[in-house]
Amino acid sequence: TKQKLWGGRFTGKTDPLMHAFNQSLKYDQRMHAADIQGSIAYAKSLTLVGILTKEEETKITNGLAMVGKEWQDGVFQPQEDDEDIHTANERRLSELIGPLGGKLHTGRSRNDQVATDMRLWLLDQVQDIEQSVKGLLHVIVDRAEKEKEILLPGYTHLQRGQPIRWSHLLLSHAMSFRYDLERLQQLIPRISVLPLGSGALAGNPFAVDREFLAKELSFASVAENSMWGVGDRDFIVEFLMWSSLTMTHISRMAEDLIIYSTAEFGFVTLSDAYSTGSSIMPQKKNPDSLELLRGKSGRIFGNMAGFLMTLKGLPSTYNKDLQEDKEPLFDSVDNVSASLKIAEGVHADKMYKALTMDVLATDLADYLVRKGIPFRETHHVSGRAVALAESRQCQLNELTLADFKSLNENFGEDIHTVFNFEASVERREAIGGTSKK
Ligand code: ARG
Repeated sequence: TKQKLWGGRFTGKTDPLMHAFNQSLKYDQRMHAADIQGSIAYAKSLTLVGILTKEEETKITNGLAMVGKEWQDGVFQPQEDDEDIHTANERRLSELIGPLGGKLHTGRSRNDQVATDMRLWLLDQVQDIEQSVKGLLHVIVDRAEKEKEILLPGYTHLQRGQPIRWSHLLLSHAMSFRYDLERLQQLIPRISVLPLGSGALAGNPFAVDREFLAKELSFASVAENSMWGVGDRDFIVEFLMWSSLTMTHISRMAEDLIIYSTAEFGFVTLSDAYSTGSSIMPQKKNPDSLELLRGKSGRIFGNMAGFLMTLKGLPSTYNKDLQEDKEPLFDSVDNVSASLKIAEGVHADKMYKALTMDVLATDLADYLVRKGIPFRETHHVSGRAVALAESRQCQLNELTLADFKSLNENFGEDIHTVFNFEASVERREAIGGTSKK
């Protein structure tokens, strides 16, 4: 029977259950390209310090490229004993080029190797996700531009508040994604710190040039403490936190659209492409896409909370618990990427006006303010006008001038200017307001 890569000091066999429990290849094979890339750079660094001859280096790097190609072509044959992507690649390398393959791991540990692979892999994913966030931003901004004439009530406490432009609501969500984009970009330099050359924990005894390694692998900097280098997973936590916050924003936007698509609101109609029907109620068109976006946010938060729990009691440097970084990270990357793409696609077809005159009650109070009366008084007057209209079961603008004058003598003929949604919206032209400006 074949020997495990670390089997020298062992006489007993691994329990089959333990073997399966320990094995991470089924999920960490996603990092096959990063693992090969890291190994090629490491082989080159070994030549620079005289561990490998140039000829040996060429054999090793060619072998690694062949292993990489097998993965790419989908023909890599995992073996029962391959514990993880690192042992699988090294095993295959030695099959292809013989015992020389055994020189590659000189001075390296899977501890600095796996941390390097994870960072390389994530850097690549973050670039994609950055593009998706930008895509979503473009869709929202274009939509806001096209539909800026539409007015609707803006809500606080889900109660009608003041008239707003539909574009203003859309752009309020875009603001969140704009800062998500900024935050994502700020993570990059902290992901881009090279652990390779940290060894198992104490450092590399063959004086490999870590600046060279960083350059080869396009890392922005080198981990300046080897124990930290092998034990740090904060870059993963930060990404999981970023994912949680971004999904929270997606979820809140989804919730707006879910509410607005109900018959009770009837503001928007969801496109068929992102809705589904009911197996029993023929009339239904359900906002499943939006509900999944809202639902996924819980699971993404769970990935973050779960992994922080894994980290919190760990002693310094590498502990096998850290292998638990992969599934939450991979799951969050997959689901955030998919969610951003779905959120980009979902669109609402129709937008109806649902404005009632009571949302102009603030403007009514402001009308008297412009005549010199303190706002605290005008607020009260306007509230009484609302109550009067309510008792008469009429709209605010259906009260007569005499009615208004009975509440305050400063009301005049120009009162009708208040009852204009467009004018109300356009008055909010201070920076950040809902006017077109
Ligand atoms: N599969 C391991 C992981 O994902 C690789 C590192 C293993 N190192 C070790 N000393 N057991 O974390």
